[in-house]
Order: sequence, then structure tokens, then C-alpha cells
Amino acid sequence: MMESLENVATRWLNRRAEPQPSALAAIEGLTPAVVITGGSSGIGLALAHEFAKHVSAIVLVARTQSRLDGASAAIANQHPGIRVETLLLDIGRPEAVDAITTWLAEQRLYCDVLVNNAGVGQSGPFSASTPDGLDTLIATNIAAVARLTRAMLPGMLARGRGGILSIASLGALIPGPHQATYYASKAFVVSLSEAIRSEIAGRGVRVAVILPGPVETRFHARMDAEGALYRHFLKAASPDRVAMQAVRGYRLGRGLIAPGIVPTLGIAVLRIMPHAITVPVVRWLLDTGRPVLPTDNVR
Ligand SMILES: NC(=O)c1ccc[n+]([C@@H]2O[C@H](COP(=O)([O-])OP(=O)(O)OC[C@H]3O[C@@H](n4cnc5c(N)ncnc54)[C@H](OP(=O)(O)O)[C@@H]3O)[C@@H](O)[C@H]2O)c1
Repeated sequence: MMESLENVATRWLNRRAEPQPSALAAIEGLTPAVVITGGSSGIGLALAHEFAKHVSAIVLVARTQSRLDGASAAIANQHPGIRVETLLLDIGRPEAVDAITTWLAEQRLYCDVLVNNAGVGQSGPFSASTPDGLDTLIATNIAAVARLTRAMLPGMLARGRGGILSIASLGALIPGPHQATYYASKAFVVSLSEAIRSEIAGRGVRVAVILPGPVETRFHARMDAEGALYRHFLKAASPDRVAMQAVRGYRLGRGLIAPGIVPTLGIAVLRIMPHAITVPVVRWLLDTGRPVLPTDNVR
């Protein structure tokens, strides 16, 4: 059933595809890979397991070799026969795109699916955010997504196949007081994805963006948000469930994927209700109690 729905979706997505013989010749003998940034843990690792059911090669990109090794071993163990490669890289660095494309060519792989998953959060009042924290968040959540997408998309269009799946957040649809830059960064990811999807409609390339609500990963602890009320009031989804729904939506050619009932309802509510009502509720949920007027960065 899923296979035939996917075939219908693929035919529709390919209605204006013009694969270039030279582009197809250039990948002869190479293996198509799903390249997952932040594939070593959380949602990225769950996505890797889910994609591994359907593809022949997965590339996990992250900054911590021990986690990459653990993730790669787990995937290889659960999905015998799949090729799993790891690339130790900070995708926020300007040279990351060149590093990935050069490395893929050396490995005789090409990027058939790009999963823009790596992301960092920042919690607390914006006035207390550090310049380094802001730079890291913008480099990882915004600049790297734009640069990698720009780098991989032309090849996909020339081949008339492949796709880009980006992980945004339900928070993309509303300003997020106490996670202001993070929410704004995810709004960028949704806007970019939907615009590109419209530009390339029918050219054979899938462009999808996922909007999960809270998911049970290390993400919240890493940004020191465990004290915020949303961690107590909102049930976090499992990464496996989010990944399963994300990959299914991607294969069916959907553009905006709400993985589960909570995000589906959340999208409806956030689109209908005015910000005058919803923003104060979000502020209450995200507040960690840190002071809005810090004493350490007054100029
Ligand atoms: N958890 C949630 O509630 C939730 C909800 C909605 C959306 N999301 C989004 O889902 C995505 C994945 O989050 P998660 O919850 O799975 O978080 P996570 O468990 O902290 O995983 C983040 C992954 O990204 C990697 N990473 C971070 N910065 C990187 C960089 N500069 N270069 C390369 N890799 C980097 C991390 O590995 P290293 O640190 O070793 O590099 C790790 O593999 C993020 O974009 C997040 O914004 C999460």
C-alpha cells in the first residue's frame, strides 16, 4: 500500500523533471546516500534507523566521534547490509559544505537525500544570551541549513530525483519568549523549505520540513531548559515515532509534516489563534526563571 502511494507521489513530483544525461553519467558507479546532520543522537539517529529500512547508504555527520561510532554500530547491527559512514564535522563552520562534498566524492558516494537535522537550542531571556551562543545557534540552525541545501539541490535537480528533509519545530509558527532565537531560527527553516518547494515543484526533488512538538532527547538538557514548565506540562514524543512519521511523510511527497496528533493540533491552533493570546502562553511554558535584566552584559 505504502509502496503504491509512494509511486503515485513520485510520478506527481516528477511531472516536470528533466534529468540531465551528464548528471546521471556523473554518478555512475557511485552509491546514493542519505546524509543526516546530527545523525549521532536523538531525532537524527532515529531518522537514520528509519531511512536505513529503505536505502543502501547512510552518512552520519556530527562533532563527537564516540557518539558517531555508537550510532553507526547500532545501525549496522539492526540493518545488516547497509553501508553506514560517519563524518566528524561541525556543520556550522563555513568550510563544512566543501568538506562534505569532497569527502562524499572520496567515498564514492553522492548525496541523494539531505537531512538537515542538527540543531542547537538556547533558553533563557534573549537579553542574557551570549554572543558565542547566538553565533553558534545561527551558524548551525540557519546558515548551515541554507548552505548545505544550496550545495546539494542543483545536483538533485539535474538528476531529477532525491530530496531535502529539514527538521524545524512547532515553535517555527510562533515567537518563543525565553527561546527567542531558537524559535526564530526554526521559522527560517520552514520559510526556506516551503519557498524552495514551490520553486522546484514537479522537478522530481522532494522538499519537506518536519514540525515536531517536544521530543524526548538530550536537546532540552543541553540548553538548560529542564526547569521550564513545558517540560512538565507537555508530554514529549519518542524520537522513533517522530522519525517514522517524518520518513513516511517524506516518501509520500508531503511538504509540511506534523509528526503526530499534538503537532497536528498545534499547527491548527497556532495558525488560527492570534499571537496576542498564544505568545503569553508560550512565554509561560518556556520561562526558566532566569532574570530578564542580567548584570553581566550591560554596556
Ligand atoms: N527535542 C525536541 O524537543 C525537538 C523538537 C522540535 C525540533 N527539534 C529539532 O530536532 C533536531 C534534532 O534535535 P534532537 O532533539 O535530536 O537533539 P540532540 O539529541 O541534542 O541531537 C542533536 C544532534 O546534532 C548534532 N549537532 C549539534 N550541533 C552540531 C554541529 N554544529 N555540527 C554537527 N552536528 C551537530 C549533535 O551531535 P554533536 O553534539 O556530537 O555534534 C547531535 O547528533 C534539532 O534541529 C532540533 O532543533 C527538537
